[in-house]
Amino acid sequence: MTESRWRQRAALMRPAPIRLSAQRRLERALTIAELRSLASKRVPRAVFDYVDGGADAEITLRHNRHVLDQVTFAPTVLADVATPKMSVSALGMTSELPFALAPTGFSRLMHHAGEVAVAQAAARAGIPYALATMGTTSPEDLVSEVPSGRKWFQLYIWKDREATKQLVQRAAAAGYEALIVTVDSAVTGQRLRDVRNGLAIPPGVTARTVLDAARHPNWWLAFLTKEPLRFASLGRWDAPLAELGNLLYDATVTVEDIAWIRALWKGPLVIKGVSSARDAARVAAVGPDAIVLSNHGGRQLDQLPHPYDFIDDARAQLPAGVELWVDSGFSTGADIISAYARGADLVLVGRAYLYGLMAGGLIGVERAIAILADEARRTLQLLGCASVRDVTAAHVRRGIPERPAIPEPLPSASAASPEAAPLRRDHHE
Ligand code: GLV
Repeated sequence: MTESRWRQRAALMRPAPIRLSAQRRLERALTIAELRSLASKRVPRAVFDYVDGGADAEITLRHNRHVLDQVTFAPTVLADVATPKMSVSALGMTSELPFALAPTGFSRLMHHAGEVAVAQAAARAGIPYALATMGTTSPEDLVSEVPSGRKWFQLYIWKDREATKQLVQRAAAAGYEALIVTVDSAVTGQRLRDVRNGLAIPPGVTARTVLDAARHPNWWLAFLTKEPLRFASLGRWDAPLAELGNLLYDATVTVEDIAWIRALWKGPLVIKGVSSARDAARVAAVGPDAIVLSNHGGRQLDQLPHPYDFIDDARAQLPAGVELWVDSGFSTGADIISAYARGADLVLVGRAYLYGLMAGGLIGVERAIAILADEARRTLQLLGCASVRDVTAAHVRRGIPERPAIPEPLPSASAASPEAAPLRRDHHE
């Protein structure tokens, strides 16, 4: 056979391209990392980077993963773990899974179904969802679209205190159960990816965006044909994203302003964005129902610790009854379960569900929740724990330090000195 005939035959034998339904495509993602990879193909680069990126050199972003990767477990075998209890209590009510969906901005940018899809997925899973001040669905619309499920509202205290007060009153009138005040954002973190990408809301039409439209036609079609994006709590606002925050955030906010919110809001109050035990003590003085140890997923001040780095010290500062929540980088069920071992009362996840939202809207968020729930359940069972609350400090160790605690010996000395082997484990809680 001639070479060209071989070519023709080979072309015929090549399998036809498989068109996967959205559901099948999402089911093939077995981890949040795989959902992330799917997401990166579905949305414009600037949108993906907004979710995926962190501030400045992204040291905190990497540190978060590094800390969580260092956790090692200490299981108890031979325990009856046939039906582990996955629910936890948060603010005195049940979350069916050991995590809640964190407030995140601009969700309709990630997928046109936006906050409504996220709230629907949360309600179906029986877990709380926090709508963000920077949301693209108004607090009232979210409640009318998704009446069921536990809903919290996240607040930035704006420069305009009267508008802030009105927003708090709207959240109360719409029936939001708890208010989460974010306190780590005197100004916006410098997210270099957003600056370089020129990310603006709504995205402007430039030569680059036109090119991008060819690669992500579904996203652009939805963007151009669905209801225009707007900051639902603020009305419309067109500005580069990096500038928008600073128009709103108020760098004069102090503990007294939080005390003002405490007096204004009658329901449970949560203070989010604490990165030291010292600040845990300062904000606890205002009388919150919970505080969230958080480095904002590495998106605000860079070079912050992970909550694990000071969770015990922070707990020591809290009066009994104040819940201690954590977020920042939790992207596997094992990450989540290990937080309970370290004494957390609740874990919030943000990026994990946004990857799902970008990858497939509502069913993508549901996939993210299912992945985390399955992983958390299996982790619990393999740890020998019949419920999330049975996980204790005895079930985890902090793992192998990034650098050996002792310097590596020079090559000539290493053969003679076996104790100086570099892979030294250092177990400290
Ligand atoms: C807003 O809070 C953000 O992290 O982008």
